[in-house]
Amino acid sequence: MQEKVQNVALVGAGTMAEYHVRGFRTAGAEVIAIVDQNPEAGRAFAAKWNIKGGTYPDLASLQAAHPEVQAVSVITPNKFHYPLVMESLQRGLHVFCEKPPALSVAETVEMTETARKVGKALQFDLNNRARLDSQFIKKRIVSGEIGRINSAQATWMRRTGIPGFGSWFTSKAMAGGGPLIDLLHMIDLALWFMDYPEPEFVLAQTFDDFINDPDFSGSWGKAAKKPVGHNDVESACHGFVRFKTGQVLTFHNSWAEMIKAEDTYVTLQGSGGGAHIRSVNEQNSCELYAEKDGVSHDQSFRFQNDLDMGRTRAPANFIAALNGDAEPLTRPDEAVKLMRLIDAAYRSAAEGRPVSCR
Ligand SMILES: NC(=O)c1ccc[n+]([C@@H]2O[C@H](COP(=O)([O-])OP(=O)(O)OC[C@H]3O[C@@H](n4cnc5c(N)ncnc54)[C@H](O)[C@@H]3O)[C@@H](O)[C@H]2O)c1
Repeated sequence: MQEKVQNVALVGAGTMAEYHVRGFRTAGAEVIAIVDQNPEAGRAFAAKWNIKGGTYPDLASLQAAHPEVQAVSVITPNKFHYPLVMESLQRGLHVFCEKPPALSVAETVEMTETARKVGKALQFDLNNRARLDSQFIKKRIVSGEIGRINSAQATWMRRTGIPGFGSWFTSKAMAGGGPLIDLLHMIDLALWFMDYPEPEFVLAQTFDDFINDPDFSGSWGKAAKKPVGHNDVESACHGFVRFKTGQVLTFHNSWAEMIKAEDTYVTLQGSGGGAHIRSVNEQNSCELYAEKDGVSHDQSFRFQNDLDMGRTRAPANFIAALNGDAEPLTRPDEAVKLMRLIDAAYRSAAEGRPVSCR
């Protein structure tokens, strides 16, 4: 029988880390220790969350002190996902990694292949799939109610919401980009509903209005005391994707754009019906549309407030899946397709033309 996984450590003790602690504990795992290159951040987090095994500057010292650790969560700025995931896998650890998977397709492919080679689990935190309304719609899609999904629209738009103004969030070298790669969740959700088709080509455009205006900063992430450099990522990205299956997707991602208020939704049109799922002001709802006997059948559903958008359920699922108690919420090959789409969107915007995904 396979060994039960219950000892985990966190790599990165910033804003997102508390969701990982809650999720792991919900699933019955113990958070043994912390790795953070900033020892003060690690120690403060460990004290607040009663994590007793200490704070370490790197994975080598963590493993030397705690050989019992079986899995890690990588919760650092995006640039460090690739090196830390690779090292963790090579050290024989299962890995749960924050989104985005990495900065490029090439890195994501290498991470995925390494996980397969060393026989360790690799899941990415695409937490919006764990929302109750997302799970509900997915079930209705799998039951065949919506038929074949032809087209989808994925939107996460903010009026003012640049995270961590002047910090790693707004540095291309550290984050890989702006709202397209950061707010990738609705694109992932649409792809998951569509059974994760292979993207074929993308036409996209980025905009950088307001990206250097602190009045457009959001509440997420700590603004830099000393800016990392100038803010060199997009403030908005809009695009169109055709998949090899003939399905299509339009997406709208922004941190700063002139809309009435923040909006987060996916809409789907299928051969048998339609669906819409929306999260506004922490209120989640969804609708299903069908035509029967010449009559429009619309159903609407409300869900108890899902304050953390699945951020606790996703790490809990990682542990449950490792222990054979649930299906994994995400698969590495999906992360590769997602990054193919994102890479192509940035290339399309840079080259000013539609581009093939590769
Ligand atoms: N799933 C979601 O809803 C969601 C929301 C926000 C952020 N995120 C993602 O979570 C990750 C972390 O974001 P955050 O807001 O917690 O960041 P943060 O800046 O608050 O914290 C990052 C922590 O990582 C530490 N760190 C940096 N480099 C390190 C290294 N090489 N080794 C060890 N520790 C290192 C820092 O000292 C800091 O304590 C990012 O990838 C971000 O995109 C996900």
